Amino acid sequence: MLTIVPDLLSAAEVARVRELIEPGDWVDGNATSGVQSALAKRNAQLPEDSAAAREAGTLVLDALGRSALFVAAALPLKVFPPLFNRYAGGQAFGTHVDTAVRIRRGSDFRLRADLSATIFLEDPGAYDGGELIVEGAFGEQQVKLPAGQAVVYPSSSLHRVAPVTRGVRLASFLWLQSMVRDDGARAILWELDRGVQAAGAALGQGDAAVVRLTGVYHNLLRRWAEM
Ligand code: NI
Repeated sequence: MLTIVPDLLSAAEVARVRELIEPGDWVDGNATSGVQSALAKRNAQLPEDSAAAREAGTLVLDALGRSALFVAAALPLKVFPPLFNRYAGGQAFGTHVDTAVRIRRGSDFRLRADLSATIFLEDPGAYDGGELIVEGAFGEQQVKLPAGQAVVYPSSSLHRVAPVTRGVRLASFLWLQSMVRDDGARAILWELDRGVQAAGAALGQGDAAVVRLTGVYHNLLRRWAEM
């Protein structure tokens, strides 16, 4: 399942994040890569322990926590601190699958990466290329979103970033462990949640059928959630 979060960061928040990260001390993006990814990856990244990455990352995390759509679609248990990357001058990230387990350096924080997210921070008209291309059961999906919008996709999927041939692609990215590990089970909960929300809006939250279906949602989540 690939989910787009259209209104994650406001224009003011995008501007604030960029003000924090743009003057940062950008390094080779392979700082966080596995051996195979390092062969495919050509970009720049902010060091994860830099003050700019931490402050901007907190802003992104707060926005994710406020987004009902993100929470309902991802059912997050643990989120790895957001990182920031930059592609320019033909840089790209070839086809890969994200590392299964992420460990935060210098701590015992670790998570199983179930979902990956990209939060776009540049106007799509300001650069050419830079599409995130995700392979799924229905073929390839290309994603290039307005600044402030996010896409969430399975970390297990083959994906790549197309070469940026003009301008600069600036983005935040992160991995998260979901309470519901299985992508298919999570997709069923997401569909049920949307159906229950729509039925509640049409019939009223106190409607007996809406109450029953809400119960089914919670009982499925109870059955499938791992913490
Ligand atoms: Ni990736």
